[in-house]
Amino acid sequence: MIFLNFREYMNKLESTGSITKIKKEISIDVEAAAVLKAAEPTPLLFEKVKGFPDFRVAGNIFSTKISIANYFKITPAQLIPKLTEAIDKRSPPEEIKSPPCQEVIMGTVDLGKLPILKHNKNDGGRYISSAVVVTKDPEFGQNLDFHRAMEYTANKMSTRIIKGRDFYKFLERAGEVEAAYCVGNTPNVLVAAATSVKTGINELEIANALAPTKVTKAKTLDLLIPADCEVVLEGKVFMKERAAEGPFIDLTETYDIVREEPVFEVRKITHRKNPIWQALLPGALEHKVLMGMPREPTIFKSVNEAGVQCIDVNVNPGGSSWLHAIVKIDKKVEEDGKTAIRAAFEGHKSCKHVFVVDKDINIYDPLEVEWAMATRFQADRDLVDIGREPGSSLDPSAEAGTKITNKVGFDLTAPLKTEGKGFAKAEFPKVDLKDYIE
Ligand SMILES: Cc1cc2nc3c(=O)[nH]c(=O)nc-3n(C[C@H](O)[C@H](O)[C@H](O)COP(=O)(O)O)c2cc1C
Repeated sequence: MIFLNFREYMNKLESTGSITKIKKEISIDVEAAAVLKAAEPTPLLFEKVKGFPDFRVAGNIFSTKISIANYFKITPAQLIPKLTEAIDKRSPPEEIKSPPCQEVIMGTVDLGKLPILKHNKNDGGRYISSAVVVTKDPEFGQNLDFHRAMEYTANKMSTRIIKGRDFYKFLERAGEVEAAYCVGNTPNVLVAAATSVKTGINELEIANALAPTKVTKAKTLDLLIPADCEVVLEGKVFMKERAAEGPFIDLTETYDIVREEPVFEVRKITHRKNPIWQALLPGALEHKVLMGMPREPTIFKSVNEAGVQCIDVNVNPGGSSWLHAIVKIDKKVEEDGKTAIRAAFEGHKSCKHVFVVDKDINIYDPLEVEWAMATRFQADRDLVDIGREPGSSLDPSAEAGTKITNKVGFDLTAPLKTEGKGFAKAEFPKVDLKDYIE
């Protein structure tokens, strides 16, 4: 099967009319982000970027599960098995020379030459938010992560590295670590980078198992990077040298605070000819789908391992694609709903609310999930209060500093024994409206 790289994919969107082209000159100073937000989830291509005649800017490219599933030529329901298989059956990517991402090597490093967006007027600065960050540790080898980076001089950025991330572990050990921030990637690389797997697993091998992925040697670093991406910023990140990072919008669409974060010193920039800058709106659907989707296989696995047949999981955008999980099960015994709740929390430690539904509920339709709650749920019987535990630091309602939160599960499955009214939704006969409406 043939999978397209980012440029080929953009060309395909253009040729099939599946991307909206913006011909009007756009400013990267808040305006481009505002237009992307207004158009979400429609993919946009800004053809004329004020002050950056050599660049085009694209955004909202993979804002829905459907767009990601389409890229892999599967259905959204096949994403969990696909990702699970790719994590289990990793394979080394092909290394190539003379890669597209190094067609142009910038003479001097000047971040001012890149159309890095300022997303909102309250942001601390211009932010790279779509970069997949390649790093390496002498013991654990290569790793992929996402780390937003805020420009503060012509060659320096402060970059958010949450404690516990593999990159954080590498930095703790070495003090300074070479890093390549790669912009302009397809879902094989994006989704692989967003997975949290055991330290030592090279996520580029997961990317390659998702869709054939080419890698190449970075120009100045001993790192293998995605060869087909659009722009690469090579340099070093320092644990002790720190600079203010933020404010910036996080996954919950609320503002994150200013922190002193590690400095990324950019030492070389390479890019494709006629580069396309991949924008990624913070807190928006694309950020959410990439963040939440890799948690679904871990919840799925955990529920099945607890002995309950899990059919599908949606870490849904309404729950910031992080704090809520909707779990669809094939209920066999009365206790299944509650068992699934406890297992789902094991599969995603940052989750705050779990909703378990029967197999007749469409977990992608919030109205159907609410209907299950309205008709099948009784709080004194079906609520599972896990109690106060560490949850997510992103949740503004969690205890500041400790991230302690009250985790609760809702068993929205119907009781197996019906005593009064039934729980099945009544169906009307199916008709073809074309037979009735001209
Ligand atoms: C779009 C996006 C942006 C992210 N931004 C950051 C970030 O700025 N800092 C961070 O530490 N994690 C960020 N993350 C989360 C991690 O990079 C991600 O969960 C990663 O899988 C952690 O991998 P690891 O287990 O290899 O450390 C982001 C994730 C996504 C999808």
